[in-house]
Amino acid sequence: MEATQKKIVDALNRQLNKEFYSAYAYLATASYFEEQELGGFANFFRIQAKEELTHAMKIFEFIHRIGGTVVLAPIAAPKAVYKSPLDAFEQGLQNERALAGEINDLLTLATEEGHGAARVFMFWFVNEQVEEEALFTRCIRRMALVGKDGQGILLLDKEFAERTPEGEKKSA
Ligand code: FEO
Repeated sequence: MEATQKKIVDALNRQLNKEFYSAYAYLATASYFEEQELGGFANFFRIQAKEELTHAMKIFEFIHRIGGTVVLAPIAAPKAVYKSPLDAFEQGLQNERALAGEINDLLTLATEEGHGAARVFMFWFVNEQVEEEALFTRCIRRMALVGKDGQGILLLDKEFAERTPEGEKKSA
């Protein structure tokens, strides 16, 4: 049981770091959009960064609840190089897909190790990843429709400005 606990806590700590990294990556994207004078897009990514912090904190609390030790490893610097606004969203989608894969691996580990509490805990994340991927996919499709049309981009910027931390997925 001790070996199982260690495997699970180590994996949760790795995921904790990835969620913090994602917050960093989305803050970098928010910054990119600020520099482009696209405050609505920046708002979207600021909120996305906050969501990642929420995910990280859920894991932080859970590690404590199961009697584990939180290990705060260094957070890698995001690449923060974007060819275009569309590229920024495409990189976001890639990040979400990577997270979904890692969440799935964690769920598999919890199942194989017979750690019921971790297994049930991961269900929320599995659903959340479905939402996150759908959100980015929808944004990318809408941006592809607009292309390089300045007016279209400004319209989308207005829409993204309306995203709020709660219930935001409806307005994007
Ligand atoms: Fe923590 Fe965007 O998933």
